[in-house]
Amino acid sequence: MRFPENFIWGTATASHQVEGNNVNNDWWAREHAPDTICAEVSGDACDSYHRYGDDIAIVADLGLSAYRFSLEWSRIEPAEGEFSRAARDHYRRMVDACLAAGISPVVTINHFSIPRWLDVQGGWRSPVAVDRFARFTEFIRPVVERDVEYVSTLNEPNMSACMANIGKGDTLLTAGLPEPDPQIADALTMAHHRAVEIVRSWAGPKVGWTVATQVFEPEPGAEEVAAAYAYDRETRFLQEAKNDDWLGVQAYTRTRIGAAGPIPVAEGVETTLTGWEYYPDAVGFALRTAAELAPGVPLIVTENGIATADDTRREAYVDSALRAVHAAIEDGIDVRGYFYWSLLDNFEWVGGYRPTFGLVAVDRETFTRVVKPSARWLGSVARANELSG
Ligand code: NOJ
Repeated sequence: MRFPENFIWGTATASHQVEGNNVNNDWWAREHAPDTICAEVSGDACDSYHRYGDDIAIVADLGLSAYRFSLEWSRIEPAEGEFSRAARDHYRRMVDACLAAGISPVVTINHFSIPRWLDVQGGWRSPVAVDRFARFTEFIRPVVERDVEYVSTLNEPNMSACMANIGKGDTLLTAGLPEPDPQIADALTMAHHRAVEIVRSWAGPKVGWTVATQVFEPEPGAEEVAAAYAYDRETRFLQEAKNDDWLGVQAYTRTRIGAAGPIPVAEGVETTLTGWEYYPDAVGFALRTAAELAPGVPLIVTENGIATADDTRREAYVDSALRAVHAAIEDGIDVRGYFYWSLLDNFEWVGGYRPTFGLVAVDRETFTRVVKPSARWLGSVARANELSG
């Protein structure tokens, strides 16, 4: 099963999940709030803020061709309108380190975490949020111009809209997704379009966004309920990409939808450490749905992966997922690449450090990285650009 020439084989992280000590963003504040819903605090995370060189070296050594990472807005604009050139230079050094290692940097301008100064004004509900994001986007131009082919404006805007209504108890989102906040969804949509316009005026990057997808599978008779459930949580965000340069899909699992809404995973069905159904075919559905809703837009699987303590399940999951990606390509869908989530065992938001998605384990006291066998296997698939039959 050969993949197209120049197919991108990558892996991904996000600033708040791996850098450590992002004390100036909304997540840090949330983690430390007395009524926090986070299982634990992010703390030092993987110390990737200092160890990004080691991380990039691992990606290259595995034989992967790309590394997707994000910029931490709260470091680059620590106070409203006050920009740090030194922090911006840090991310430019990350881009340069990727290029020197022969791998393509893929940059997400914002992956969930926002500066505290914006959070206290209401976050994405603030009337200034879109303008502030546009101004931030303009500032990061030197990080990506010329040398970064794929830039994503915002990560999973649909999940940001849903997370606004997350409550205690649904921390791992196993009982379906919370009701999305329409005001946040609209603000993120506007922010995306503003940023697309800005990035398009620069030399080099192709710009898009990355959307969380799920198989919302209707029980017989619940087709309309499922379509309505999916619309606000996914469909509208995929449709927004119709004029973009590319679209990222991020796929993990499926949720069955009955007449009354989402149905918990049935007993006896294999689940992962996030409590999600083990369902590697999700990525194939994601690609087909995205191709239908944003026709002609090149697709990239910007995230796909599994949280498991059993690395053999990771290899099995990715093997099946890649077969689904390959089948979509065979059917004529324009898929440019595949990024495994995540390079490292990292901070899984409200879930803390327990759900281990990484290709690489991280000792949280010494920060020692240990490459898992599944990582070597994925690297060998990437080098060969094919999966054996
Ligand atoms: C989606 C998000 O982009 C990422 O931050 C998260 O860790 C993974 N999926 C797994 O839940």
